[in-house]
Amino acid sequence: MKLAFGSDHAGFLMKDALAHSAGTWGHEILDVGAANASDSVDYPDFAAAVGRAVVGKQADLGVLVCGTGLGVSIAANKLHGVRAALCGDVFSAKMARRHNDANVLCLGSRVVGIGLAEEILRAFLEASFEGARHVGRIAKITALDDARK
Ligand code: RB5
Repeated sequence: MKLAFGSDHAGFLMKDALAHSAGTWGHEILDVGAANASDSVDYPDFAAAVGRAVVGKQADLGVLVCGTGLGVSIAANKLHGVRAALCGDVFSAKMARRHNDANVLCLGSRVVGIGLAEEILRAFLEASFEGARHVGRIAKITALDDARK
């Protein structure tokens, strides 16, 4: 798959490590930054870049990391067509794909360790949308998105 990775400074080290791991798993990586952990940057800029890459189909799925994962998830979900899921456990990551058709995974680098983050990412990438009864529910989310001012 083509995967877009982004973070702020707080998420940089985790983003870098996860992008590297995903590359070794055979995925194509689009890294939108941040470029380092030392320069303070604003997480909405990177959430926007990853969200646009996914909505614009330059990437199949996106991964965003900030300190808590909260800022990037709130920001990414403002983009039309983005369904960003903040996950701190493997079960939620699987269900985010299976039931919610999430297209962006958000992680908190100050919340989960790198080992768990890698397991969460793997679960997210290996799961797929189940369709069926969930299709109508996603359509209702899209309708809310369409109705947003
Ligand atoms: C940066 O200090 C921090 O606020 C950011 O990474 C994130 O946790 C925001 O939600």
